[in-house]
Amino acid sequence: MIKVNFNAEVDEARAQKILAEIKKDKMGGWMELPRKYDMGEFARIKEAAKKINEESEYLVCIGIGGSYLGHRAVIEALRPKSETKIIYAGNSLSRRELEWALAKVGDHDFSINVISKSGTTLEPAIAFEAFKKKLVEKYGAEEATRRIYATTDAKQGALHDEATENGYTKFVVPDNIGGRYSVLTAVGLLPMAVAGVDVDKMLKGAAEAVETAVEPALNYAFMRYALDAKKYDTEIFASFEPSTVYFNEWLKQLFGESEGKDKRGILPDSVIYSTDLHSLGQYLQDGRRNLFETIIDFPTDDLNAKIVAAVRIAHTGGGIPVLNISVTSFDEKGFGELIYFFELACAVSAKLIGVNPFDQPGVEKYKLELHKLLG
Ligand code: PA5
Repeated sequence: MIKVNFNAEVDEARAQKILAEIKKDKMGGWMELPRKYDMGEFARIKEAAKKINEESEYLVCIGIGGSYLGHRAVIEALRPKSETKIIYAGNSLSRRELEWALAKVGDHDFSINVISKSGTTLEPAIAFEAFKKKLVEKYGAEEATRRIYATTDAKQGALHDEATENGYTKFVVPDNIGGRYSVLTAVGLLPMAVAGVDVDKMLKGAAEAVETAVEPALNYAFMRYALDAKKYDTEIFASFEPSTVYFNEWLKQLFGESEGKDKRGILPDSVIYSTDLHSLGQYLQDGRRNLFETIIDFPTDDLNAKIVAAVRIAHTGGGIPVLNISVTSFDEKGFGELIYFFELACAVSAKLIGVNPFDQPGVEKYKLELHKLLG
């Protein structure tokens, strides 16, 4: 269950109108997804995960942005147990990083999950070529094909075409769900299941949130909107759990890509406490007063809880609005709830400032420039 410790002035009529707009948006498929999941697809995901676990010491997850951050966030946070280790590739163009990942897999048995909705993103495409070559060298073309799992568009794109021609196991990113809202589809569920995350429990948490998260999400979105109007233009997501670094990264991507357009949007940043109390903590306490802080408050032990309380008092005293979002459990259910809660709050927030939550024209711009430079 998600709880917030503030009461924004929610304009109910406007809120309901926005919710209805998101629901019928052509990219609003994530809204009902946890309750209407295609159980046939869900069973295929779990079956594929079992097969990967049986025959691979490593699963190389290739993807970037929304095709990467969500599952990494959950896997790193929960540290589930699995014989198969996950290794990430294709989330940068660093040759050094790619060579490190190739060397790490070394002679171990491995499979590949290549994830790209468009199927044309350069970073994953380059990493996929490198790992596919390694796979073919190790197992031969036929067995290599059996070890490639492609998560992509149902009908089009270079990856879709290649997967269809070669007979890779395919999973679909639904047409009506964009990258950063896709963590609860095969995009996130396959890597999570391989890593040992209880995906049934996670989906159950998200399904509950479809009802229970609406009120707190609206409250949070309207609070952000009010703070933005008062010139609080930067939001710091704060967590007291070091394993949630990538959850922070997912949040920054979700809010940054959804809201940051038309010269609008709150700039998202993040900290991990108490580590960052000895770093950005100074700025938060005494620096420019254009920030507000959103604490993601996980259940914790007494000492950590005291630090949460101390930070809240100190930062509020320093003139920073501090919002608290708490979740009942630090497990799959809790993360299922949190993911849904933030997706909803983010989409509503973007609508409140009049931008489209589901496109990313700025990202497309850099892709275009890069393709031009590469000829
Ligand atoms: O949220 C988004 O839509 C983006 O971050 C994409 O996920 C990212 O650019 C990767 O795109 P693709 O899955 O098409 O490779």
